[in-house]
Parts: sequence; structure tokens; C-alpha cells
Amino acid sequence: MQTPVLAFDVYGTLVDTQGVTVTLSARIGQDATAFAERWRDKQLEFAFRRGLMGAYADFAQCKREALDLVDQERGTRFSEDFKQSLMAAYRRLPAFDDVPQALERIRALGVRCVAFSNGSRQSVEMLFDNAGLRALFDDIVSVEEVRRFKPDAVVYSHLRRRTHSRPDNTWLVSSNPFDIIGARYAGLRAAWIQRNPKQPFEPWGDPPDMMAPDLGALAEQFQVQLKREGHLAG
Ligand code: LAC
Repeated sequence: MQTPVLAFDVYGTLVDTQGVTVTLSARIGQDATAFAERWRDKQLEFAFRRGLMGAYADFAQCKREALDLVDQERGTRFSEDFKQSLMAAYRRLPAFDDVPQALERIRALGVRCVAFSNGSRQSVEMLFDNAGLRALFDDIVSVEEVRRFKPDAVVYSHLRRRTHSRPDNTWLVSSNPFDIIGARYAGLRAAWIQRNPKQPFEPWGDPPDMMAPDLGALAEQFQVQLKREGHLAG
């Protein structure tokens, strides 16, 4: 029987994109959270649109372009130096607390764990080195290898090719509903990590096969699932 592959989304699932608020709040106080949210939304939108246009660029470029826009929109007039520190903060986002221990538990189940991101391989390596996550993953699969962005079906097929896995044995783990819907549409299985309890799943597309509030809860559910499917004894 083929070993299941778990492909973990990175931004928002393994590392907390709200981590930039520490740098932001030193400059703009209480507006930091709203700024960080808008910045995240816009960088995703720019990546999606670049994907549709066939105008791929490194995700870091989408981030920088979104930062320039949000700075203009909000009239914050950040200097080039400060923008560089914000970009640097994005390269050092902290892992969510549950991640290291849960990953150890999941790996102990004998599944293969890979990171799967819209970010470049180099960006993900840097994040993992900073957050101490590097040793917990067998590989990093970046969309840059196909120059498209999630949720394009091409990137989910690429993930399967890279991991030599069958669709029914390949799980995407993500906190981003757009990623889950994209993976399910491409025939993969998917576990939604509902990091924000107030965020509903989107009312369209195929629902996730599994839902958990964090990766610790996912590890428990996954163990049960693997037993049920005969991957684990007992
Ligand atoms: C990623 C972003 C989209 O890591 O969360 O792919």
C-alpha cells in the first residue's frame, strides 16, 4: 500500500502571517492588524491575477507590490528602509505553537510530509530555518517549478508528480479555503485547518474531507483515518 503524502500549505497554516504586526505596530499602533490583513489579501489577489494573466512572478514580488499598494491606500508613507524591514519580517514569520509537536506526531504515523507553497523554495527554506521546521519535512514543493499559482489545477497535479502519489493518497493540509477547494477540484483529498474559529468555510466547491482547529487535532484525526484505511495496525 502506498504511503500517504501530506502536503502542508505554508503561509497561514504553518507560519502566522499576522507575525508582521509586531514590526507594523511599532510604527502604526492599533492599525497594524488591519494593515497586515489587507496586505495578505492583496498579495494573494495579485498572485491569483498574475496566474490568470499568465504573468508569473515570484510570490515575494507579489508581496512587495501589495505592500506598496496598501501603503498608498492607507497613507502610511513608509520609507524604503521600513518596507524592507517588513519584507524581512515576512521571511521570519513565526510558526504557530502547535506545529513542531504535531508534525512529529504525524511523521511518527509513517506518512510523508512535504511543504507545498505559493512561495518560492528559497523563501520557504528561509522561513523553515528561522522557525526550526526544516527537519520536519521530507521535501518542499513550490509552485515556482511550474510558474503558476494555487489554486490552478496544474499546481496540484505537479504536487502529485513530484511526490509520485495517487490523488486518493495525497492530502492537502491548509487553513486557506481557496486552497482546499482547489485541491478537491483537482481530485486530491484535503484537511482544512480552521485557525480562525469565526471563519466559515466557503459555501461552494467540494467541502474538505477533514476539519480540525489546529495541527494537534489533525494528528489525532489522521491517526484514526489511517487505521480505518488499513495503513496502520491496531
Ligand atoms: C502558500 C500560501 C498561499 O503557502 O498560503 O501557498
